[in-house]
Order: sequence, then C-alpha cells, then structure tokens
Amino acid sequence: MSKKLWGGRFEGDPDAQAWALNASLAFDQRLAAQDVRGSGAWAAALLAAGVLDAEEAAAIQSGLSAIADEFAAGELVFAPGDEDIHTAVERRLAELIGPAAGKLHTGRSRNDQVATDLRLWLLDELPVLQSAVTALQAALLARTEQDQAILLPGYTHLQRAQPVLLGHWWLAHFWPLQRDQQRLAQLAERAAVSPLGAGALAGVPFPVDREALAAALGFSAAAANSLDAVSDRDFVAEFLFAAALLGVHLSKLAEAVVLFSTTEFGFFELADAYASGSSLMPQKKNPDVFELARGKTGRLIGNLVEVLTLLKALPSTYDKDLQGDKEPLFESYDTLTAVLPVLAGGIAGITPRAERMRAAIDDGLMATDLADYLVARGVPFREAHEAAGKAGRAALQAGVPLSALPLADYQTIHAAFGEDLYAVFDPAASVARRAALGGTAPAALAEQIRAAHAALAPHRRSQP
Ligand code: ARG
Repeated sequence: MSKKLWGGRFEGDPDAQAWALNASLAFDQRLAAQDVRGSGAWAAALLAAGVLDAEEAAAIQSGLSAIADEFAAGELVFAPGDEDIHTAVERRLAELIGPAAGKLHTGRSRNDQVATDLRLWLLDELPVLQSAVTALQAALLARTEQDQAILLPGYTHLQRAQPVLLGHWWLAHFWPLQRDQQRLAQLAERAAVSPLGAGALAGVPFPVDREALAAALGFSAAAANSLDAVSDRDFVAEFLFAAALLGVHLSKLAEAVVLFSTTEFGFFELADAYASGSSLMPQKKNPDVFELARGKTGRLIGNLVEVLTLLKALPSTYDKDLQGDKEPLFESYDTLTAVLPVLAGGIAGITPRAERMRAAIDDGLMATDLADYLVARGVPFREAHEAAGKAGRAALQAGVPLSALPLADYQTIHAAFGEDLYAVFDPAASVARRAALGGTAPAALAEQIRAAHAALAPHRRSQP
C-alpha cells in the first residue's frame, strides 16, 4: 500500500479491513470540487501570510485547476492509498507539481478542511433542491387555478365535514412547502460560516486573515472558535430536519393523492405516465410514485436521527464519528431531488372528477350552515347547533336527506325555521359564505392565489 499522509509515525501497513472501514473516499469524492476550491483559497491565504512564495503558490493553483478539470471530466483516477478525497487531491497534486504540493497542508488539518468542504457543498447544492421545491409549488398553483371552482367534501377525522373548493385544497399543500423554502434559506445563512483556519482544533500559527479567506470562499463570516469550528455539524442536522419535514409534507400530499385516486373515492384519475400496472392483475392502475414518495420519508427521518445520534456523544472538537455525517446528508438530498420532480409531474397530470366530488357532498355537510341560518335569526349558536342536530336525526329516522325534511318538521324542532331555510343546502352558497381571509370562498381563494404567486415570485426569479 502506498504512503499515508500520516505515515511517519507508523510501521507497516494497516490491516486491510481496518483500512476499508477507515476510508471515506467512496462517498466523500463527491466533495472533490469543493476540496479543490477550499485548497485554492487556502494556498492564496498562505501566500498572503508569507508561508508560500509566489512561485509555489502559482504551481499549487495550476495543479489544483488541473485536478478540478480532471474531476469534472471524470478522469481523476484514485489510488489504493487514497483514504479520502482530501488525501486523494493532495496525492494527485504532488504527482502534478512535485514537492511544492507538500506545502499546501501547512497550518491546515483535514478537520477544518472537511468541515469547510461540506459547508461549501451544501451551499452549492441547496439552490438545486430549492428550485425543485419551487417547481412543485408551481405545479400546485397551476392546479389551483385550473381546479379552483370544483367543489369537494372537506374532511376532518377523514369524515366528510364541510364543502370546500378544490383550489383551496391544493393550496393547503402549497403553504407547507413555502415554509420549507424559508427553512432552507435560513439554514443556508447559518451554514455560511467558514471553519477554515481552525486547524486541527487550536487555530493556525501563521498570520492568516481568516475573514478574507472566508469571504474568498463566499462565506459570510469566519467561525469564532476553532474548537467549535471543527466539530460544528449543526448545519447538517438543520438540513436533515428541514429535509425530513419537507419529506413529511410530500408524504401527506402523496397520501391524499393515493386516497383520492382509489375507486372508493374516485376523485382523481392519475396520468398513465405517473402510474404503474400490476404484473398479475390486468385491471390495476397503481399510484406507485406517490407511494414511493410517502415511503421514502422513513429514510429522511432516519437520516436526521442518525446524525443527531452521531453528534450527541462527541465531547470535543473532531472525532472520527463525524465522518458519518456525509452519507445521510447526501442521501436525503438525493432522495428529495429525485422525488420532487416526479411529484410535480404526477400532480400536473391528475384529472379531477368533479362529478364524483360533487356527488360526495350530501346535505349533512351543510348542517353547520343550517345552524348558522338560525344564528342569523338571533338564535344563540349552542341552541342552533342543537336544533340542526335534531333535524339531522329526524331526517335520518325518516330516511330522507335534510333538504327533503318537510318545513313542518323543522318548525316543530325550532320556531325560527322559515321556508327560506332550504337555500342553505346549496354547497356553492356554503362555500361562498366563508369569505373571510384564508377561507374557502371564491373571493378569498382569489386573494390567496395572489398571495401564493407573490410568495413564489422571488424563488422563480432565482432559479439556477
Ligand atoms: N475523512 C474524514 C472525515 O470525513 C476527514 C477528516 C479526517 N480527520 C482526521 N483527523 N482523521 O471526517
């Protein structure tokens, strides 16, 4: 096995299985571009601090840019002795430029290096995820505008409750994603702090301007404490929480689509391109991609728990446990960026069955409106609620819908009932009455659609 970076103090080769366990190249090679960028900024800082001369710094920079090109072209070849991406880059640099490469790691440790790389990676990749969320929000908003006039039963406890507009229902899945967008933007701000120059743990013994170094890498500040800087993975945990909650939102949406596309509900017809068949039952049209979106939430939650568990027992600065921060981070990111576009396409492809939804609105869903009718005639709500409940029972006993219960029966229940009560059983009128801000009335929904467009506009502009 070739020479280790830390080989001086060791005799012989490491045990092969121990080496395999120790190595992280298989997954951290994903940080190659950030490792090269961080190294370039570090070389510039060493030049400014008088540690490197101009010739050495120039050789290092040209070697690093050659490595970046090799990696981008898929031509960076790893060696059996490459323990991780940091050692691989340094080894390759030495091959390309000779002994000057050995000066790059002056004052730096893989501890501040890896923490820097991972932050840079997250800051580089977040916009891709954010625009995938934006695209799903845009699909939900387009659905809202298409379906805004369709009436369906709204549910609580999964029992039919009150009529709502389908547009209002779609937007109920838009706003949680807007909160996810805010969380992602906020955690990016907190992640933009540079650990570089913290060294292994105690700081750097050369006059490195850490703030200028942070700015050169696009960070907004340099970490205030070197011990904290090498151990802080709050940004990973925060991202994984934001990813898990985003996953929960996607899962709820997916579950609603699965339910509404059953024969029993029959509210949604899925596009063939976003449904799957059964290998046995020829009649089946399964909502597989929505089920997968729902199922993958387990991984997203698991990855958060994994990293929190990883962090909780680390007493100070860097511990090798921290190497385990990367796979959960990458996996949650990959899961979401795979699921989001498919959900957006699947949502856009849905055909709503307005007649099935309308048929599911029975008179009982307007029982609250019946009580409100009495309230409008001065009856206290509690008394009105009781009267509407009695009317419901009378209708049930007579085996008729509320709208077919004779006026005489209503008037025995409460004297304030008049002939005009039957108008309450129009679901469109029921919906229109809920016109206060955030309600399901067409006027309130139009206002909400404007607010959703306004919320989305800045994200649409910043699409990469
Ligand atoms: N591969 C390591 C990681 O991902 C890099 C840091 C190694 N630091 C050390 N002191 N061994 O955490």
